[in-house]
Amino acid sequence: MVRQDCGSCHGMTLNGGLGPALTAKALKERDLPKEALVATIYGGRPGTPMPPWHRFLSEPEAEWIVDRLLEGFPE
Ligand code: HEC
Repeated sequence: MVRQDCGSCHGMTLNGGLGPALTAKALKERDLPKEALVATIYGGRPGTPMPPWHRFLSEPEAEWIVDRLLEGFPE
């Protein structure tokens, strides 16, 4: 799901496209708090193309995705 749905904007390898790169390295460089990333996935970012995912994901699932992204999403 992350690769297909998120990858359509963030790139199939999550190296960025319309949306910023979501690789562990890129996220660490931007140094955003984990809660902010979870909130961005769950609630979207108003005024930007980043849509909210609360209809498809629970908050713990959004948190799980952030944990995987911070570890480095498998190739
Ligand atoms: C329709 C395109 C689109 C889709 C689909 C999309 N995103 Fe985004 N996403 C964006 C854009 C554009 C931004 C940058 C928003 C901004 O300008 O602040 C963003 C920002 C983010 C951020 C914050 C990154 C940062 O450093 O600020 C995260 C985390 C994120 N997306 C995760 C996801 C995940 C996980 C999915 C799939 C569940 C997803 N996105 C699907 C377009 C998308």
